[in-house]
Amino acid sequence: MKIALDGPSGAGKSSLARAIADKLQIVYVDTGALYRSIGLFMRSRDIDPKDAQAVEACLPEVDLRLAHENGEQHIYLCGKDVGDSIRTPEMSMYASAVSAIPAVRAFLLDTQRSIAQKTSVIMDGRDIGTVILPDAEVKIFLTASVEARARRRVLELAEKGIAATYEEVLADMIERDKNDSTRKTAPAIPAEDAVFLDNSDLTFAETVERALAIVVEKTTKIRR
Ligand code: DC
Repeated sequence: MKIALDGPSGAGKSSLARAIADKLQIVYVDTGALYRSIGLFMRSRDIDPKDAQAVEACLPEVDLRLAHENGEQHIYLCGKDVGDSIRTPEMSMYASAVSAIPAVRAFLLDTQRSIAQKTSVIMDGRDIGTVILPDAEVKIFLTASVEARARRRVLELAEKGIAATYEEVLADMIERDKNDSTRKTAPAIPAEDAVFLDNSDLTFAETVERALAIVVEKTTKIRR
């Protein structure tokens, strides 16, 4: 089974994907972490993430490995687990910038597709339903108002010990939404056959319940 979960930053895709993966006993793939890791590599080389030529020239040196250990995703960049170092607001902006570069997207395509060929997955990202897994049985586009998303992101960052104000996070989110949805290659837009799930006014438990109902509905239709 392949489940594509797309939507803007901070809609709660990763928590939802984790809960569904757990419930259905399938693998969760967080594709944003791959773009973040490429961003981290570029920063370690002092490369401007918006400089497409420089980023592309460096890609052959990026040694990226995706692993699943005890149900958790780990990314090894040049042999070292990136851990939470990719979760800072700075790395969010780096990821957004490198993700607009076609060569970066092409570089990550096989990594993402090959894992879905080997096992049942729920994959979260921006172009999973449109580009990476267009044949996914279930496609969900998870969204929420930008204010609700910014409020949640501030709490998430605080839990990780990363201080950021609501205003800063909101401004970053508006900028990232714009970058991600207007870029030329694989813009973050819903697939035609995606089911919309707006969770601005839903609790996490309600969001999980609705998403599972979508999975059941889509998969029973296929089996019929
Ligand atoms: O989901 P996230 O916030 O960790 O993603 C980081 C950035 O990577 C985000 O700005 C958009 C980009 N991204 C993408 O372009 N395609 C994906 N499949 C996943 C993330």
